[in-house]
Amino acid sequence: MELAGKRLLVTGGAGTIGSHLAERLLDANDVIVADDLSNGRREWVPDSAEFVERDLTDPEGVEAALTGDVDAVIHLAAAKLVDTDSPRKQFEDNTAMTYNLLERAREVGVDRFAFTSSSTVYGEAPSPTPEDYAPLEPISVYGASKLADEHLLSVYAHTHGMRVWNFRFANIVGSRLRGAVVPDFIEKLREDPDTLTILGDGRQEKSYMHVEDCLDAMEHVIRNADAPLNTYNVGTRTTTSVTRIADVVSEEMGLDPDYEYTGGERGWTGDIPRMRLSVEKLAALGWTPENSSDDAVRRATRELVEEI
Ligand SMILES: NC(=O)c1ccc[n+]([C@@H]2O[C@H](COP(=O)([O-])OP(=O)(O)OC[C@H]3O[C@@H](n4cnc5c(N)ncnc54)[C@H](O)[C@@H]3O)[C@@H](O)[C@H]2O)c1
Repeated sequence: MELAGKRLLVTGGAGTIGSHLAERLLDANDVIVADDLSNGRREWVPDSAEFVERDLTDPEGVEAALTGDVDAVIHLAAAKLVDTDSPRKQFEDNTAMTYNLLERAREVGVDRFAFTSSSTVYGEAPSPTPEDYAPLEPISVYGASKLADEHLLSVYAHTHGMRVWNFRFANIVGSRLRGAVVPDFIEKLREDPDTLTILGDGRQEKSYMHVEDCLDAMEHVIRNADAPLNTYNVGTRTTTSVTRIADVVSEEMGLDPDYEYTGGERGWTGDIPRMRLSVEKLAALGWTPENSSDDAVRRATRELVEEI
């Protein structure tokens, strides 16, 4: 699908990735942002977007946001904490939002739908993990909710003639990121510049990608993949350890703190210590990540040190 001259609904468009996406799409499209601001910010919604402040777990909220004149839905709204205190709510909210949006899209004749899933659907899989890896055994309720959402996408793609793009993201970093390792380290070091507490043993190795590269990859897939259900990993070819992130953040803040590790190979319950996604399917479609995971961490750190 061309991404020009369209009317697009971006759910979660007041959040980190969604607000950057809405900004970009507005260059050539009309954009409606739907978000309940539970984790996003009103000031991150671009001025020229229409803004619908509604809870999308409520079918009436979805009715208000999604009307028949929309060409495509790009669904990013989700409760995204892996180690949440409210797993039931997370599972119910994420699956209810996706179901409400798909069902409303079918009802009003909107037949293009993009969804942001996650590497967590793979569970603890060998790296690099390709899209056809099986069995999919998530180890967090967040990952399970994303996998359930993906199964709903399959129904609407194969039974209701929808074209669906499903993105399994690695760790996406950049400005406006909150509640993740880079901004957490910055906040901790602002409070105590001498000591940095690191969750786990610091040897967790994961793939990080800058949000601008992530959006380039998404746009490329939406433009070029036209199967009923198009599932693509989106990440970099390399990884960065948590201790390396601590080094980069300390360096960029001009600090030399002592590190204190909480220990254990996982940072939190449901954490996957090693994650790197295969991006060969994306490369075969003509888009290759040029920046490394370390580049992404460095660039995001610089942006976030300015911002937080
Ligand atoms: N950031 C990452 O590293 C990453 C990795 C894998 C997948 N993802 C997925 O990408 C998407 C965007 O992530 P993000 O990092 O921008 O997260 P985010 O929390 O910044 O954005 C999500 C937005 O959804 C909104 N939202 C949540 N519940 C809602 C509800 N009931 N009704 C309406 N709006 C609601 C929040 O207010 C927030 O603005 C999410 O689906 C997330 O699971 C992100």
